[in-house]
Amino acid sequence: MTRHFLNTQDWTRAELDAVLAQAARFKRSPAGDALKGKSIALVFFNPSLRTRTSFELGAFQLGGHAVVLQPGKDAWPIEFDLGTVMDGEAEEHIAEVARVLGRYVDMIGVRAFPKFVDWSLDRQDRVLQGFARHSPVPVINMETITHPCQELAHVMALQERFGTTDPGSSPGQALRGKKYVLTWTYHPKALNTAVANSALTIATRMGLDVTLLCPTPEYVLDERYMDWAAKNAAESGGTLQVSHDIDSAYSGADIVYAKSWGALPYFGNWEAEKPIRDRFRHFIVDEAKMAKTNDGVFSHCLPLRRNVKATDAVMDSPNCIAIDEAENRLHVQKAVMAALCAPEL
Ligand code: CP
Repeated sequence: MTRHFLNTQDWTRAELDAVLAQAARFKRSPAGDALKGKSIALVFFNPSLRTRTSFELGAFQLGGHAVVLQPGKDAWPIEFDLGTVMDGEAEEHIAEVARVLGRYVDMIGVRAFPKFVDWSLDRQDRVLQGFARHSPVPVINMETITHPCQELAHVMALQERFGTTDPGSSPGQALRGKKYVLTWTYHPKALNTAVANSALTIATRMGLDVTLLCPTPEYVLDERYMDWAAKNAAESGGTLQVSHDIDSAYSGADIVYAKSWGALPYFGNWEAEKPIRDRFRHFIVDEAKMAKTNDGVFSHCLPLRRNVKATDAVMDSPNCIAIDEAENRLHVQKAVMAALCAPEL
């Protein structure tokens, strides 16, 4: 069976640790030939700065080649449903697209955000699952309803910041027991829950004491990811709690990770959600909130609207590791591609 990288939850902790260790080696020595003669198709249904740049350069740095495709723009629109009479916009079906690409390339990366109309459909992740079902080569999730590459880059940045000098300790051990706050933060639009789902998944996997801080119960994440997080915390020795209280959540935090997202009960009815979210502009990450932490580090997946999601002072603070996290995308993705394409490395 073809091995994919659709979610970190599908990979064992040992496999993830091996990818992170390889990423650290790639960061020390960026170039190599692990992907010599290999290629990846990067299929983007949505815009990107970091993901596109880091995947293209990552493949190049390891001797491979990346082809970028944007269905509906520079490639044919694709149909994903089975049994459809294709008399609409789509010119070809995923059953052909994935198999044809699989004859050309060694891996396929997919970015496909939710359509934000019906969460019961979006949570099926049909575009990513369609590629995975039909592709004869490994498929990598470049952000759909989760963002596993961001998870790895985030953890790598945390391991770098909280690294231990004890030669008997693994980098992961340095994170165990740290207080981690995933805070909802304000944004004028309802955004994807992918990074929030991913942050909860990986933080609990790493044994952190995780608080999900969000304005009201309506902003709690989908039960699939809450269940993953609860299971991960039970297995890793970490903890998981939900809070709506800013002061107690920030108090003593070692790590603050911010993300904005839309409230799932309002999916497809965002006009009704807007006045609710507008009441919580004060969830912005600012100096006063960070002062309550244990000299905590701050990060965000980027892009970030300054002075809406986080203040200039927070972004420009030495405790902000968002740029390190963004850089690490390059190295963790090289490690993921190598793990899928050159597992002997
Ligand atoms: N964080 C992230 O995935 O950035 P892009 O949307 O720019 O790729």
